[in-house]
Amino acid sequence: MRQALLLVIVLASIRCAQSGSSVAERPSANPAPAHRGPFGLSMVSTPDGKPVPIEGFGVLDDCSLCHPRQAEEFDGSFHSRAHEEPFYRAFAELARAEAGEATYAWCTGCHSPAAVVSGLVPGTKEDALPDAAKAGVSCDVCHQVQELTGASGPWKEPGNASFVLAPSKTKASIRAEIQSNPAHGARRGEFLERAELCASCHTVVHPTNGLRVEHTYDEWKKSVYAEKGIVCQDCHMRTVEQAVEVARTLKPAVVEGRTSAMSAKDRAIHPHFFVGGNADAERLTGSATHAAMAEARLQSAALLAIEAPEKGPRGAELVLTVAVTNVGAGHELPTSLTEIREMWVELVVRDADGKELLRSGALDEHDELPPKTLRYGCALLDAKGRETFKPWEAASIAWKRCIPPKATDREPFRVAVPRDARGPIAIEARLRFRSASPRVVKAVMKDAAYEPRVVEMASATASVALE
Ligand code: HEC
Ligand code: HEC
Ligand code: HEC
Ligand code: HEC
Ligand code: HEC
Repeated sequence: MRQALLLVIVLASIRCAQSGSSVAERPSANPAPAHRGPFGLSMVSTPDGKPVPIEGFGVLDDCSLCHPRQAEEFDGSFHSRAHEEPFYRAFAELARAEAGEATYAWCTGCHSPAAVVSGLVPGTKEDALPDAAKAGVSCDVCHQVQELTGASGPWKEPGNASFVLAPSKTKASIRAEIQSNPAHGARRGEFLERAELCASCHTVVHPTNGLRVEHTYDEWKKSVYAEKGIVCQDCHMRTVEQAVEVARTLKPAVVEGRTSAMSAKDRAIHPHFFVGGNADAERLTGSATHAAMAEARLQSAALLAIEAPEKGPRGAELVLTVAVTNVGAGHELPTSLTEIREMWVELVVRDADGKELLRSGALDEHDELPPKTLRYGCALLDAKGRETFKPWEAASIAWKRCIPPKATDREPFRVAVPRDARGPIAIEARLRFRSASPRVVKAVMKDAAYEPRVVEMASATASVALE
């Protein structure tokens, strides 16, 4: 045990050295790790803990006729394909093969909860599942939640699908004056307005060792957004332009439109795109619209600046600093699957003859990040202290470098300026993001691997005269 810990610390410090000033995060064990509910490792449940009929869950087509706007926005979101999109599918099958059916059911509790509460997962072969069990985070998941249970659970907070889900004659809505309509009843679901609805799935806790693998909600809760009552919905159920304003002003925005095709007038509605930073939507969920929106979100999330002196010496070292500020995200940048997501800085410094004095963060011949890149994200270690990107193997965090909301991260770079260099010196920096590295995508998807798109989030230039 002591040896394993030592190894973790050594590895952590090697990583820190690699990525500059990064702070090594000690294993964050949870006081109440192991949890077993009526549906196994997932916290998801039903009113009496017994399976409910899958027929009580609709698919998109059951809502689209009367709610064309919500259905159109939702179709092609990662929620709409949370069970079927090919990267997840391959990853989940890998989990099933390596860690077993119980772990697979833990994944499914968040990625397609209807399959778990209906008792179909664990146990049913993928091609024998009805469509409603493969519908992902569907309309009838959020709108048929009966109760959030995180606060009364083992961690006293949301995580691992901490809600009661059951088919119901009424759909949950936030409207104060609820009226049943010819198609279905409605009830007031106050939880729809709360970040804790999202947090129930956007907090991933390792089911046996309690490591908090994904913690977007924890990051948000410590932020000025939480303080001002700006919830996940205020950015992710608004247009990109509105979300930018929400982040800038810390005031909510309103979208108007039709609740249903039968509605007589416009009122405040909530765009159902649920776009984050995954710009591979075209390849993974078949939606170019969602991909373009993810790109726009990424490009509004950060500011990049180069801090350098106006004049520098010849034949000596020039120190410049790259500063990245999280201006638009209500949580850390990047967030959630940060062991897989890659956000990094590419920096090029040239003299006036175009001679390269420094290059950092340029992809190598395999399109991978070279060592010593200024990368934001984290690395997970398994129980033996080896690096892993598989959440079910994770036992501790080797290093983590993510930028909290509204915070700035700085990294110095040292450039040796030759005596014969011609000034001025030109500095170019770019902040880049991709949802995974080609190496990880290949390890998971084998021959079906896709090429993750690289999005330029921000760029900056500076010039230094030579003395
Ligand atoms: C036959 C038409 C029809 C179908 C099918 C339908 N709805 Fe509705 N729904 C309505 C009408 C009409 C309203 C009320 C609109 C209004 O008051 O402006 C409504 C309202 C809602 C509301 C908001 C309640 C409120 O009063 O604010 C939710 C949530 C909702 N529906 C969810 C769903 C879901 C999820 C599905 C698919 C499983 C679905 N609906 C299928 C017609 C339908
Ligand atoms: C991830 C959870 C989630 C999913 C999935 C989801 N909704 Fe909603 N829906 C909400 C929330 C949250 C609100 C209210 C927004 C708020 O409180 O800010 C809402 C509001 C609505 C409303 C009221 C009108 C409006 O836009 O505010 C309708 C109708 C509706 N949803 C229908 C649907 C349909 C149809 C689907 C599937 C195509 C769907 N929802 C999928 C969370 C969800
Ligand atoms: C507590 C709920 C929860 C559990 C349990 C869970 N996930 Fe997820 N998963 C999420 C959420 C939320 C996201 C979205 C985060 C994001 O995209 O940044 C996600 C994203 C992913 C993605 C990224 C998809 C993409 O296309 O980039 C993969 C792959 C994935 N999960 C695999 C798994 C596997 C395999 C398991 C089980 C071993 C699992 N997840 C367990 C909630 C969960
Ligand atoms: C039942 C579980 C569940 C709930 C509830 C839920 N999510 Fe998700 N969410 C997921 C999963 C799983 C994914 C990733 C699916 C995939 O890529 O395979 C996801 C993906 C996303 C993404 C896209 C991430 C990306 O990489 O671009 C956003 C944004 C998001 N969710 C926001 C929300 C918000 C806001 C709420 C609350 C209104 C919410 N989610 C509620 C499970 C959930
Ligand atoms: C102030 C606006 C804002 C708020 C509030 C906010 N987000 Fe985000 N979110 C963003 C932006 C901008 C991005 C794109 C940059 C990034 O990936 O972090 C994003 C990205 C994401 C992603 C995708 C991460 C990835 O790499 O795939 C998820 C998942 C997500 N948000 C979930 C949430 C949840 C859950 C909450 C509430 C606890 C929330 N967000 C609150 C603005 C916001």
